[in-house]
Amino acid sequence: MVKKKKFKRIAVFTSGGDAPGMNAAIRAVVRTALNYGIEVYGIVRAYDGMIKGDIIKLSSKDVGGIIQRGGTILQSARSVEFRTKEGREKAYNNLLDKGIEALVAVGGDGTFTGATIFHKEYGIPVIGVPGTIDNDLFGSDSTIGYDTAMNTVIDAVDKLKDTASSHDRLFFVEVMGRDAGFIALNTGIASGAEAILIPESRTYINDLIITLKENKRKGKKSGIIIVAEGDDFGGAYEVARKVKELDSSYSTRVTVLGHVQRGGSPTLADRVLASRLGFAAVEALNLGHNNEMVGIVDGKVSYTSLDLAIKSHSPINKELLRIARILSI
Ligand code: F6P
Repeated sequence: MVKKKKFKRIAVFTSGGDAPGMNAAIRAVVRTALNYGIEVYGIVRAYDGMIKGDIIKLSSKDVGGIIQRGGTILQSARSVEFRTKEGREKAYNNLLDKGIEALVAVGGDGTFTGATIFHKEYGIPVIGVPGTIDNDLFGSDSTIGYDTAMNTVIDAVDKLKDTASSHDRLFFVEVMGRDAGFIALNTGIASGAEAILIPESRTYINDLIITLKENKRKGKKSGIIIVAEGDDFGGAYEVARKVKELDSSYSTRVTVLGHVQRGGSPTLADRVLASRLGFAAVEALNLGHNNEMVGIVDGKVSYTSLDLAIKSHSPINKELLRIARILSI
């Protein structure tokens, strides 16, 4: 059991690749804390701002009208200096100067890596909120931004399907996820892709060629191949080049969706998820939790140590993989 705590002042920041819904999380942290009479500070540009002392007091009004906005009003940055002891010491002294007693870190595995080192060095309570489109953190069924990014992908792929069928073309569409295939697998199923290549299952180009030949035999002259950016074969350009080399009869094009997946107004699902997790983060601090990530597992708030959240990936859903194969024929 953890000991309840009464904080006077906490800070929140967003870090790593930004994700739609981060603003909703900031809003929830600020308003939940103020509800408990806790002052909230925002750290601008994550660990960079912590080291520079770019730390601003936030009011309820400051987070008004942002729930629907993509990006993050506190911005984000990756900080090399925070990887040094001197950098972390500067950061900690800035927090002390402001009287900040605990942190809520909204971000991904890089964010949590820094947070857990900082916690172990200075003992400051830290709660992680999973904010990354990759969905590659253990301890939450979804991460903030994942749903919005996937909806952005299927919207784009639906458009590509139109032009692919107009020109009897194969489109190789590369999606984000760094080294996880969750976005690729789910958007591949949702967009009816002919093939989905993900880092979690080895890509055999000859198998892909067989699938494509079979489709052509059945009269499918165009198609979509979703390629996760972390796929073991390389990105969409690599795969397209190899397919063309092995069978030049195909007309192929490549679309790398890139950072389009990182923007846009968060979906309802991400706004609710972010609101729940921002609220849960402050509740967790009050309950005495620290060095943990809050998540939603089977609809309920869960707590996972930051170390575990970083180290383990949620496994790829094998049933979804099977469904993808069967439904894409
Ligand atoms: O972690 C989120 C993410 O969008 C990954 O999917 C992607 O590989 C990476 O960030 C891109 O990083 P950057 O925004 O620094 O180019």
